[in-house]
Amino acid sequence: MHRAPRLATRLRNGSRAMATAPKTPQLLGLSSKYLLPVYARPDFVLSHGEGSYVYDTEGRRYLDFSAGIAVNALGHADPGVVQTIAEQAGKLLHTSNVYHNKWAPRLAELLVTLTQRDGGLGFSPGTSGATAKVFFSNSGTEANEGALISCFFVLQITWCTGALKIARKVGKDRGTDKSRIVCFENGFHGRSMGSLSVTTNPKYQAPFQPLVPGVDVGVVNDIKALDSLVTDATCAVIIEPIQGEGGVNAANTEWLVALRRRCDEVGAVLIFDEIQCGLYRTGQLWAHSSLPVECHPDVVTMAKPLANGYPIGAVLMRDSIAETMTAGSHGTTFGGSPLACAVGHHVLSRLSDPQMMAQINATSVYLEERLTELPKKFPGIIEAKIRGRGLIRGLGFLDSTQPGSVVEKARSRGVFLLTAGKNAVRLVPSLNVGRVEVDTVIETLSESIEEL
Ligand SMILES: Cc1ncc(COP(=O)(O)O)c(C=O)c1O
Repeated sequence: MHRAPRLATRLRNGSRAMATAPKTPQLLGLSSKYLLPVYARPDFVLSHGEGSYVYDTEGRRYLDFSAGIAVNALGHADPGVVQTIAEQAGKLLHTSNVYHNKWAPRLAELLVTLTQRDGGLGFSPGTSGATAKVFFSNSGTEANEGALISCFFVLQITWCTGALKIARKVGKDRGTDKSRIVCFENGFHGRSMGSLSVTTNPKYQAPFQPLVPGVDVGVVNDIKALDSLVTDATCAVIIEPIQGEGGVNAANTEWLVALRRRCDEVGAVLIFDEIQCGLYRTGQLWAHSSLPVECHPDVVTMAKPLANGYPIGAVLMRDSIAETMTAGSHGTTFGGSPLACAVGHHVLSRLSDPQMMAQINATSVYLEERLTELPKKFPGIIEAKIRGRGLIRGLGFLDSTQPGSVVEKARSRGVFLLTAGKNAVRLVPSLNVGRVEVDTVIETLSESIEEL
């Protein structure tokens, strides 16, 4: 009868299970014996967390200022998230998309109405009326694949003369005039073949050549190059308004407006990948919510924080894109499950609460104030300007060998940070992080940089 609450209690009291768990060296041994070695990880095993803190199997505590790479927006083991998972798992976990479920339409409605409330996708803040659609996936890379597929599908119907296949992403179709995709240097869009093809980092791409063909690579903020970059042959342009992995670089508003204008001139679909920078990380729903509608995209992709760590991704698109997608044109087994969408609805409802937004904005101001102390203290080491906005921030280092070592030193002091691009340390904490945690991270950064 009351399975859900009992499960929630068990999840919260995870420490009880730890008593019988294997010891750290045993777990590390299993890991190296059985897991594909595609990750370079430090020698400890995380066992549980609470808020912005995580603990390893030796009982050491860490301040997680990386939030699982911009994922745990409400922190670890949030009681509301735990309860939602427990209750929904006890009712209906998965149905496949052969059937309707209660939560996918409600989460889609929330995404659209919040976009209308806060601004985005061409809506000024305060717009009303349903004028956008959502497709749910399981991850960020799948959301981008879905977005690219939508573009091909739209353009196949509206502009292309031939039968441009959705299967273009596997590199089959090259014969039509409008099939090229534009992406940008230092962008990161995921590891599946289509998303990888527009992620221009040679480290990620080189081992997997040949990739999906027909990709043109531009430089963010280069206005002069736009006309030759985005042409009549371009079907889609994909960009992160604030690059995460690539170095926490924000695109200029003026350039984004010019990019939007150029997409309209040639009839290309503009996709904003807000997988890392969206969903209130900048204090507003989208990183582009605060920008003029003249630069807004046709399609927004999201993932990471939407269900606070439970896997989910989504593509939000204007009706003009959505109207050409029909039954059977795209699909997934797991995407849009009742569990993922119930958690997404819970998380998004809390993040969009005006009080929560005010708190995110206040913490963002405080973090910026404290971060600006660092270039003053270390002028020959750190770039003067702090990168990014809100709670996606980057510290640029003049010597590109230093960010990795700062991240390691901070970790040895019990603080998780990330590198970004060639020369930055990235800070993407939980969105409910407090001033105490900000103070800790600044102190740790300061000590770690001093030790360089
Ligand atoms: C901007 C951006 N797009 C796409 C992705 C890929 O998301 P996922 O790892 O969920 O496939 C990431 C992941 O870091 C990202 O930061």
